[in-house]
Formats: sequence, structure tokens, C-alpha cells
Amino acid sequence: MTDIFSPVRLGDIELANRVVMAPMTRDRAGPGDVPTDIMVEYYRQRAGAGLIVTEGTQPSRVGKGYWRTPGIHSEAQVEGWRKVADAVHGEGGKIVMQIMHVGRAAVQANKDADAETIAPSAIACPDKIPGPDGVPVDPVMPRALETDEIGGIIADYVTAARNAIRAGLDGVELHCASGYLPMQFLSSNSNQRTDRYGGSVENRIRFVVETLQAMADAIGPGRVGFRVCPGIKFNGMDDASPHETYAALLKAVDGKGLAYCHLMHVPMEGQDALDLVRANWTGPIIENNGLTLEKAKAVLAEGKADAVSFGYLFIGNPDLVERFRAGAPLAKANRANFYTGEGVDHVGYTDYPPMTA
Ligand SMILES: Cc1cc2nc3c(=O)[nH]c(=O)nc-3n(C[C@H](O)[C@H](O)[C@H](O)COP(=O)(O)O)c2cc1C
Repeated sequence: MTDIFSPVRLGDIELANRVVMAPMTRDRAGPGDVPTDIMVEYYRQRAGAGLIVTEGTQPSRVGKGYWRTPGIHSEAQVEGWRKVADAVHGEGGKIVMQIMHVGRAAVQANKDADAETIAPSAIACPDKIPGPDGVPVDPVMPRALETDEIGGIIADYVTAARNAIRAGLDGVELHCASGYLPMQFLSSNSNQRTDRYGGSVENRIRFVVETLQAMADAIGPGRVGFRVCPGIKFNGMDDASPHETYAALLKAVDGKGLAYCHLMHVPMEGQDALDLVRANWTGPIIENNGLTLEKAKAVLAEGKADAVSFGYLFIGNPDLVERFRAGAPLAKANRANFYTGEGVDHVGYTDYPPMTA
């Protein structure tokens, strides 16, 4: 029976335990989308996780869509992330960067005025997205990428992956969930292309397959994971057949030595999403969404996943793994401060005390 506190290896990354911190956008980056010292402290506090997956981080100025999200495309950003990685490693933790290109899920006021918004097709994201003041507004109408531009977008991901490794992180996670650029290619309703990146399932998975392969070629497959959420409707996603799309995707990237598949598990028609992943992917799996310690232990005991991730619980409990070990009560996080400290970044961010304080 797999113990949640036992070590595990995901690709080339050795975890001291199976409790992963899920990626969480917290909107605390500084000017130039550079990680701030308070972000260093936030991640350092949570280094007891077997693995931290950072907040979604844009590979380019075009890939930004939300207010104050960090980037990994400038030297200042690399230096900022180096401080984060050093702090986490100093506490004995491991950290991978989630690389998030939002594609069409962008508000112009959140990104540089001259940074355009692109997508597989010129179809606007129907869901509103918070602007700089937190008030949700309509996203930008995207420009459809030309076929010969797609290699350049993949090259941005590769540079971002190399930069993350240069900054000292242990690997990267390609964000293919939640209606951002990779999922916009995967989903039949947001991808109306007629070239080799659209139409058939084989064509719609091509962008993700090529991006994962290119990142793996650049930094080694064992340092590249990916996150999927088959069936999610967020940001206007409505794939006609998620089962077919994700079975094909998982089969295409299986056996290449990639570090892990991180499943954000939501109800899906026809088949349970974790069963779908297990049927088509033989590599390590991180299970996520709404887990408690008990549920997580059960998933591991049944051998259905290699690790489990927690989002919400890590916000209010920086020492979550120690609390789990001790059977200590868990603190509640304040939702009002998820994406803002009301002008003071540390509020609801680095001021949740450890259980011993
Ligand atoms: C404040 C907040 C920000 C999030 N940002 C991201 C993100 O940047 N990338 C991502 O893949 N998921 C993001 N998520 C989703 C979480 O990674 C996770 O899937 C979700 O919270 C469910 O897990 P939980 O029930 O343990 O919280 C975010 C969730 C929260 C609460």
C-alpha cells in the first residue's frame, strides 16, 4: 500500500513525498512581470511539498492574459525565478514551472499595449476575465495564427523551458488545461482550422504533441510534465468528444519518458477522466481536484495515481505536509485574497502561519 509520505520519482525528479502543490496564479509579480521577493518567501514557506508546481508563467509577452502574472522570457525574470528555486531547494524541496500561454483568454489592459492576442482560430473567449481592477471584462478578439507562425510559438515554449532550467528549477509543466492556448488547439469548438493543426483529432493534438516533444528535446523528457483537464468547460471549452481527443493525445505522448501527466479531474461524459488517463498513459500520474487527505490516501492506496496535488489547502496551510503527518487541523484560506492582497501583497499570501507558530 503506497504511503502518501513515501518518496517517488516522476521522470528525472525525485520527490521526498507524494503531496504536490498544485499550480496557482496569485497575481503578485512585479514590474516587468518579474517574480518579487514576497513570491520567493511564499514558495519557500511551501517547500515541504514533495513538489511545487508554480503558478502559470507566460513564455512570451503575447502569452500573458491576466494581471501581474510572472514571465520566463526576460533575463530579469530568470534572475527572479532563480531566487525562488534557490529558496525552495534550500528547504529541501523541488519545484517545476507551469508554462502558461493563455492564447485568446486575454484582457488587453493586463498585458503590454503592443502585445497582440493569438489563437488557433479567430473566435473570442466567451467568458469574461478580470481586468487590472479585478472586474471581469470581455477578452480580446484573437488573430488566428498562420500555419508558418506555429513553429515560432513552439520555439517560445522551448526558450521558456530552457530559461526555467537556467533559473535552477527542476523542470516544467505544459499547461494544456483550463481553456488556454494548448487546450484551444485540442478542443473542436475553439479550433476551426483547416490546415494540419485543425480538423481531425490527429491534427488537433498536433500542437501539444509537437510542443512537448520540442521541450523534451531541449531539456530532457524526464523534466517535462503536462497538465490536462478533459471535459472542462472553463473559458468556453466545449470539445465534441473529449474522450477521443485525450485518448489520442495521451497515446501519442506516452512512452517518450515524460515526467508526468497532471490530471485536473472533472466529471466527463462517458468515462471517468482518471480511468481515461490510466487506459492511455503508462507514465506517472498526479491526481488533482477537491482532494482531502483521506481521498488522496485512497487514490494512492488503490494504485490509481503516483502522487496527488492540492491547491486551495496549500494557500492557507504553508506546512500542509507537516499538518497531514501530525493530523493537525487545517486553516481556511481567505478567497478575497486569492488574486490580490488589497494593495498589500503579503495579506492572504505569506501571512498564513505554520501550525507551530
Ligand atoms: C487561486 C487559484 C489559482 C489557480 N491558478 C491555476 C494556474 O495558474 N494553473 C492551473 O493549472 N491551475 C490553477 N488553479 C487550479 C488549481 O491548480 C487546482 O487544480 C484547483 O484548485 C483544484 O485543486 P484543489 O481542490 O486542491 O484546490 C488555480 C486555483 C486557485 C484556487
